[in-house]
Amino acid sequence: MATGLTGMLLSVAAQKANIITVNAAKITTDIQPTMWGVFFEDINMGADGGLYAELVKNRSFEFYTPQMGWKMGGNQVKEGDFLILNSGAADSANPHFLRVKVQDSKGSSDMNIINEGFRGMGIKQGLRSEFSVMYRQQQPGVTLHIELIDSTGKILGSSSITPSESGKGWHKQEVSFNSNATEPKANMRIWFEGNGTIDLDMISLFPSDTWKGRKGGLRADMVQLLADMKPGFIRFPGGCIVEGRDLNTRYQWKKTVGPVEERKLIINRWNTEFAHRPTPDYFQTFGLGFYEYFQMAEDIGAEPLPILNAGMACQFNSAELVPVEQIDPYVQDALDLIEFANGDVNTKWGKLRAVMGHPAPFNLKMMGVGNENWGPQYLERLKVFTKAIKAKYPTIKLINSSGTDPNGERYQLLNDSLRMMKADIIDEHYYRQPEWFFKNAKRYDSYDANSSKVFAGEYAAQSDHTVSVDNKNNWLTALSEAAFMTGLERNSDKVYMASYAPLFAHIDAWQWTPDLIWVDNLRSYGTTDYQVQKLYSLNKGTNGVSILQNGEELAGKDSLYAAAAIDKNTNELIVKLVNAQDKPQVKQINVDGRKLAATGKLITLQSDDLKAMNSFEHPMNVSPKEDAININGKQINLTLKPYSFTIVKVKMM
Ligand code: AHR
Repeated sequence: MATGLTGMLLSVAAQKANIITVNAAKITTDIQPTMWGVFFEDINMGADGGLYAELVKNRSFEFYTPQMGWKMGGNQVKEGDFLILNSGAADSANPHFLRVKVQDSKGSSDMNIINEGFRGMGIKQGLRSEFSVMYRQQQPGVTLHIELIDSTGKILGSSSITPSESGKGWHKQEVSFNSNATEPKANMRIWFEGNGTIDLDMISLFPSDTWKGRKGGLRADMVQLLADMKPGFIRFPGGCIVEGRDLNTRYQWKKTVGPVEERKLIINRWNTEFAHRPTPDYFQTFGLGFYEYFQMAEDIGAEPLPILNAGMACQFNSAELVPVEQIDPYVQDALDLIEFANGDVNTKWGKLRAVMGHPAPFNLKMMGVGNENWGPQYLERLKVFTKAIKAKYPTIKLINSSGTDPNGERYQLLNDSLRMMKADIIDEHYYRQPEWFFKNAKRYDSYDANSSKVFAGEYAAQSDHTVSVDNKNNWLTALSEAAFMTGLERNSDKVYMASYAPLFAHIDAWQWTPDLIWVDNLRSYGTTDYQVQKLYSLNKGTNGVSILQNGEELAGKDSLYAAAAIDKNTNELIVKLVNAQDKPQVKQINVDGRKLAATGKLITLQSDDLKAMNSFEHPMNVSPKEDAININGKQINLTLKPYSFTIVKVKMM
């Protein structure tokens, strides 16, 4: 044991090491209101079978196998009683329909069709289900009996429709009914009564408790989890889905707006992407289309951030390119999207927005051109987009791709070239192991604040490795992201936006893990990583301020990471600290520059177990705890728990 002078010197050194200095008057950065956002892609049944609350799979018989999801049968069924017809109209978005010929049918066993839903249908006791169908009567006389059934055939809710219109065209009829039980994997049976022939299309069932009660809308619990984060932006629709496996299956926003029955379905690229996770029933109906994305962004107070195809299909797949001299329609799509979002109601696309129910503009301020595109072929196409968009809409900020990785040749070429081209914002993606995130808390310290800004557009710590099915959302991945994000916040003069990816995954139909939010047909929960994202977003602040220990940034030394901000709107100081070691750390934070209130808030997200996870059964296993903390004048004394993410929030006087 050290004694005398040596002991004293050692204890002074130890005390110094424990002192962190915050200068609340020394503003280092402006933190953008868009800083922490969300990334949505229709992957893992994120849209159809997920956020889009439609319960009927293949409602319009347009899947490439038109009967997929349906069983058609009954005791009296004869050859030709159920026919899938293709009207063949080349310009029709919805050419297939079901023709049912019914003869003396009286009971559910005589003639029926059953839809299996997206891995079943989630229905809730006492909740109204809204059924609708488009029909055309060839020979009137058929009544439709709609039933929700469980796996034993027990009826959980029912109603019937006798078509009221007999004209030649298509008509829509609706009925709603309550369920008498909660069942995560119900099926819907329709049995036919009477004599006659009827054509059916767009056979649809929605729960009535959609987000904001909108008919044909979104799953409220899933949107609520996003709204709870108060995200600064929402990026949509991806991701690789923007690019398509080939140009034919790229995301085309114009095909996702207008009446739902006229939105042409395509195969989802994740249907066939991974041989080890095939999802043959994964299609994009576009019931969740660009209008709905803009509306959701507005609802949750997030800036909309659409990403458009740059004239390039996924370079991991077909790598198809549109010849540069034929790129105009792609560029026009981008220009028209701005008109759709912001244009006057007398413009072509502004008018469509108004007809769809939103005459006021959506105030689109930024747009991405290309997702994970790379190489000179990307730069060549990007230049054409940039010139046209900036000429017509100079205030729209453009997000450009830096490829697939945060380093390497692809990244270097694009990062250098885009900065020379004075790109507004460069999109960086990193799917790496937790160690990478811990090590890279200083990544942006060396970036130039006077150059293009960064959008950390897709990132997630991988507990195993990228695209491994064994990746988990555990406390280690979340803690490493929390540590890394201190570096994003400290450099918020360079990093303007960040979003974890992917956002949603259905437990029975995912292709990619880890994901921020997991759902089944009735439940949803935020992972440990979600809790970190949410804490950052809810405790953002308006300006970064200086935080140092012994004159150095806290970016990994002694497994400690920190960032500090003030919020000019609420007049608060917000200090974020990550202790990534297995022992507690005693710290004294000395705050200069501003006086502090006598008490503040201490928010702690912590687990001793780095493998700890949230789950459907224990959604809040790792979740923030809030306590009061006494402030001693300018001193905040606290013990950072092992493996913890801590936020101190104090009013400034
Ligand atoms: O987030 C999953 C995928 O990862 C995205 O579609 C793509 O951009 C990235 O490679």
